[in-house]
Amino acid sequence: MKRTHACGELRTEHIGQTVTLCGWVSSTRDHGGLTFVDLRDREGIAQLVFDPSLEKVHAVAKRLRAEYVVAATGEVAARPQDAVNPNLPTGEVEVRVKELELLNPAKTPPFEIADAHKVDESVRLRYRYLDLRSPRMQRNLRVRHEMTRATREFLEARGFIEVETPLLIRSTPEGARDYIVPARVRPGAFYALPQSPQLLKQLLMASGIEKYYQMARCLRDEDQRADRQPEFTQIDIEMSFVDQEDVLALAEELTKYVFARGGRELPGPFTRLTYREAMETYGSDRPDLRLDLRFVSLDEVFAGTGFRGFSQVLADGGMIKGLRVPGAATLSRKELDELISMAQRAGAKGLAWFQVGPEEMKSPIAKFLSAEELTGLRKAAGAEAGDLVLVVADKFPAACEALGRVRLHLGRKLGLVDETKWCGALVTDFPLFEWNEEEKQIQPMHHPFSSPFPEDIPLLDTDPLKVRGALYDVVLNGVEIASGSIRIHRREVQEKVLSIIRMPEEEAERRFGFLLEAFQYGAPPHGGIAFGFDRMVAMACGEESIRDVLAFPKNAAGVDVMMGAPAEVSQEQLDELFISLNLPEKEDDERASG
Ligand code: AMO
Ligand code: AMP
Repeated sequence: MKRTHACGELRTEHIGQTVTLCGWVSSTRDHGGLTFVDLRDREGIAQLVFDPSLEKVHAVAKRLRAEYVVAATGEVAARPQDAVNPNLPTGEVEVRVKELELLNPAKTPPFEIADAHKVDESVRLRYRYLDLRSPRMQRNLRVRHEMTRATREFLEARGFIEVETPLLIRSTPEGARDYIVPARVRPGAFYALPQSPQLLKQLLMASGIEKYYQMARCLRDEDQRADRQPEFTQIDIEMSFVDQEDVLALAEELTKYVFARGGRELPGPFTRLTYREAMETYGSDRPDLRLDLRFVSLDEVFAGTGFRGFSQVLADGGMIKGLRVPGAATLSRKELDELISMAQRAGAKGLAWFQVGPEEMKSPIAKFLSAEELTGLRKAAGAEAGDLVLVVADKFPAACEALGRVRLHLGRKLGLVDETKWCGALVTDFPLFEWNEEEKQIQPMHHPFSSPFPEDIPLLDTDPLKVRGALYDVVLNGVEIASGSIRIHRREVQEKVLSIIRMPEEEAERRFGFLLEAFQYGAPPHGGIAFGFDRMVAMACGEESIRDVLAFPKNAAGVDVMMGAPAEVSQEQLDELFISLNLPEKEDDERASG
């Protein structure tokens, strides 16, 4: 029996037609002799009706169980008035089945497909092929497909060429750990899997491709989170003869175009913020602008303060930031203590709070402050009775980051984030380098191929941490969805930057020699950006985790529990690669059971 229609497509206009449907049994019911079966395919659900007078067919129908695969032929008929289901697109019709073929029975599934999302994720991942049958996952994969198509459409209309780049390459410096693959052809040598096609797309610019894109798989061995997977997809873009504004304009347009096809209209021009503005106003370089709470500077209010906690910070070149949280004066002591430890975990020395009353400002440090300072604080923060004002004094960026953490936490907790909004932002003017306190070393903010602002090049020698880079991010609702930069295209500038991050010349030569060499054969000025495609799709689908928009994701421990990957390999495979394992003793048990 060949199918003529999809289950989900039947409507009143099909009444009277004989159709053949194929699909999975979603549920069965018996009513006064009639047997009803909801049949599901990827387009939706249709109701099949079996009349006991057709004995043979009815007997087969009575044996059907959830997830049996069947083909059914019958006539589309109107449902009786009282049986119409307004919640189902096919709810006005049913199919009176005359022929039924059981294509494959099924074991009782470990969970009901329609309720898959209520089941523990480990079970869903173990039986991913069943989970993917659920309407929600079917929709997510479709939205993903539509957004992929939209991306290609958008970029191809603008002259971009998709070029595939290899997966077996040399290490790329995106800051994560590499996945490595032993090379049989050169015992002892390893390929690295790309953390991104960064170096290759730059070489494609040297190759004269001018406008490149790729739906690129990236592999990074890093700790998993809701928005991170060991393999993920980027919309990877690189362009020649462009400046930052060209890339940003394209990026904003692309974001809107692709989200629109994911069912989300992103309003208005994206907010433009420099890194410094974003940090000083929202305490994050990926601010969630759906939360309309901004920091104020209190440097002037406390310029002459006698409170050492503040005066010392100002004397050391730090800053004092304040945040008014409307209606939060009622937070308990315990909740306030939690805010303080949150700020401290984020690296601040402390956090001071002020409960704003009709006249007074209640605070453990009120006694150290003058009446003038308290009025000044109240005014600067724009605080009213019932508000809470939070203050952090520290160096930049610690002060901002700590208060930013508290801002987001309270915003969510108090329901101040407007979930109906879509707030896009383009963040620019990042510092080229940052200080890594743990390693006591200067490191690139993004990756070492980003170009310094030409006017800041002299600072490379004198004060590298002050150098701004042509780096930019696209941020949507507090999520960094894309990141890019104008690149260095001259060998001497690239060498200078590598020397500042203390990469010895011979290491630079060994790792990126081919790129440095390419720069000497007429590399054009170029720049680009890469979007975290999984994050975009998850947001469009309203999913918290990118695992819900990937067909076969890894779990939070980086394991594919369905396939059982990673797994041990045979001794022959190891021998062929001249690899011998040198495993620590005590993990043996874990491995055997895992
Ligand atoms: P970056 O490392 O910032 O830049 O990555 C670009 C975007 O990719 C997404 N992303 C991830 N998504 C899911 N899982 C992960 N583990 C993961 N890591 C990153 C983020 C991020 O904004 N080559 C540069 C881009 C460039 O300069 O053009 C790069 O890869 O949304
Ligand atoms: P201390 O004198 O360190 O016990 O601090 C007294 C109060 O001032 C405590 O409530 C601290 O949280 C607060 N405080 C101290 N240092 C800072 C700071 N750098 N920024 C904000 N509040 C601070």
